[in-house]
Amino acid sequence: MNELRIVGVSGLPEITPGASLAELIVAAAPPDLSDGDILVVTSKIVSKAEGRVVRADRDDAIAAETVRVVARRGPTTIAQTRHGLVMAAAGVDSSNTAAGTVVLLPEDPDGSARRLRKSIGDLTGANIGVLITDTMGRPWRNGQTDTAIGAAGVLPLRDHRGQPDSFGNVLEVTVAAVADEIAAAGDLVKGKTDQVPVAIVRGLADLVIPASAGSVSPEAAAAAGQPGGDGPGAAALIRPAAEDMFRLGAADVLAERRTVRDFTAEPVDPAAVRRAIAAAVTAPAPHHSQPWRFAVVESEQARTRLLDAMLAAWVTDLRGDGFTEEQIARRTRRGEPLRRAPLLIVPCLLADAAHTYPDARRNASERAMFLVAMGAGVQNLLVALAVEGLGSCWISSTLFCGPVAAAALDLPAGWEPMGAVGVGHAASPPPPRPDRDPEAFIIDR
Ligand SMILES: Cc1cc2nc3c(=O)[nH]c(=O)nc-3n(C[C@H](O)[C@H](O)[C@H](O)COP(=O)(O)O)c2cc1C
Repeated sequence: MNELRIVGVSGLPEITPGASLAELIVAAAPPDLSDGDILVVTSKIVSKAEGRVVRADRDDAIAAETVRVVARRGPTTIAQTRHGLVMAAAGVDSSNTAAGTVVLLPEDPDGSARRLRKSIGDLTGANIGVLITDTMGRPWRNGQTDTAIGAAGVLPLRDHRGQPDSFGNVLEVTVAAVADEIAAAGDLVKGKTDQVPVAIVRGLADLVIPASAGSVSPEAAAAAGQPGGDGPGAAALIRPAAEDMFRLGAADVLAERRTVRDFTAEPVDPAAVRRAIAAAVTAPAPHHSQPWRFAVVESEQARTRLLDAMLAAWVTDLRGDGFTEEQIARRTRRGEPLRRAPLLIVPCLLADAAHTYPDARRNASERAMFLVAMGAGVQNLLVALAVEGLGSCWISSTLFCGPVAAAALDLPAGWEPMGAVGVGHAASPPPPRPDRDPEAFIIDR
């Protein structure tokens, strides 16, 4: 029978900046700290020892710790910190600290864990593992649990992929976040009052990286690298952005769409384009109609035929305006974003559901309704492409030569091109854009 013991360590004094946590923990812990024990330490006492208690306004401190706001509701901000952690209030805590002060997360929790492990090892001679923990909510479950934000000498993940289950099926995705499980187990005895800021977890020595090569288990050697090393730390628990299916939160999904005019040569996933078009056609439209149509133009031949036809129409317009051939050549030589995009989507209006009236005024209003519905659909498309990690630029040119573009694309009758959207992977991130003050756009009546 596997057995796990979790022992709370109480009796630590209030931690002040510069305190030697290792000495205080060893003094308060049972005298039999031994090889294979895992010390689970609340990050707040690490922060306090490291001088991360600051006199600051809570909102200012949250802003300073935030690299990305993921979601906001009322006074609650869920933000990503520079460590990569996504947490309420960017990990800034105003509980269990003097009024007017806030506790910030340790600067480098894995580094803090490594130093603590080394010092406790020096004091006791024991090869222990150290986890530094903080409390996090979960987006789809009520209640918070503790998770590991720093780790040293402990394998943070136990990879079961490739192993057979009891029915002989090979496990394909199971990687147990053991450091988080241990952090949560430690929380069962630590409680939330700071009276028991440390727990010792016993019975998981196979997860503690051995001090010497002699005792390396194959699993520890594979996952942790060097015997005597500290392992990959809790940083290994942070899912890379590219693998994050829920990366954008409610606060940043709209801001993610920006006009991208330079693309890499990387092809566009056709399934992502289908998903974005599925999102586009959820836009509002008049008369319960669905007036959006999309020509997806991928082959180089089709793109060139369209863009060359549009260029010829533009040159004709410029000649009509009286520009010289030299001026025309100079104008049209300017970089055209659509030429640099690996895929074009030409959004089209099919206004067959539009009502007709006996007067021009109401017919114009009817037309305006369908045009604004197109705007809503294309905005949906661009936002959905951004969520897929694709850059886009909505370029007006087909609006200025609708019949030419329709002929070049051999569009069905009634499809009216509403510009063209270049789609691809952005060659570089768009320049930052300052927040816009809504007051500048509003009159109250
Ligand atoms: C209907 C429409 C037509 C546009 N036409 C062009 C265009 O011809 N060329 C271009 O470079 N950008 C075009 N844009 C993109 C705007 O220049 C762009 O939205 C603006 O610079 C704001 O940047 P942002 O999209 O990153 O917020 C167009 C946008 C819209 C909505």
